[in-house]
Amino acid sequence: MRDKIINWLKENVSADRLEHILGVEKMSAELAIIHKVDPEKAAQAGLMHDLAKFFPPNKLLEIAQKEGLKFDSICANHPHLIHADVSAIVAQENFGVKDQKILDAIRNHTLGQPKMSLLSSIVFVADAIEPTRGNTQELENLRQISRKNLLKSVFKVSDYSLQFLLNAQRVIHPRTILTRNWALSEVIKADSLHN
Ligand SMILES: [Fe+2]
Ligand SMILES: [Fe+2]
Repeated sequence: MRDKIINWLKENVSADRLEHILGVEKMSAELAIIHKVDPEKAAQAGLMHDLAKFFPPNKLLEIAQKEGLKFDSICANHPHLIHADVSAIVAQENFGVKDQKILDAIRNHTLGQPKMSLLSSIVFVADAIEPTRGNTQELENLRQISRKNLLKSVFKVSDYSLQFLLNAQRVIHPRTILTRNWALSEVIKADSLHN
């Protein structure tokens, strides 16, 4: 199965993207062990999270429409945002993935989702901080936090990606903010229980 997926990826994504994907696969499995989630499932979700990354906008929209996927006007205007949902469709159709938690983790990797599962949180975080993303102090800090406090890293990674989007003057999908606020409030709740 893994070899089949990697061979498919070699045909459908760039060499750099494949390195990133393998980084997400490995880091998802590592975080899963630390946070007591099935590392097999985390590795599979990581390996398949960006299947549709290089699909052109019209192909993304076509597949989404064919599957009856509901998407808002921001996604309609920026189809790249739905590569996560379409990757889950490809995982189902090409590789027979049926596990809803794995499919959700693939769907949630770009924008997150309030109340998302540990598995989804792991892939969301690993996508942003796996080794090929760089070695800045900020990324190193995020990597440390991800091992100690997963929800804290979800809100920090959301902030990191919001800052990137603001600096690059790119469109921000409100779900990133909803994800951030959810994780932040969970962290505050947990902190108040401990103090
Ligand atoms: Fe992605
Ligand atoms: Fe990715």
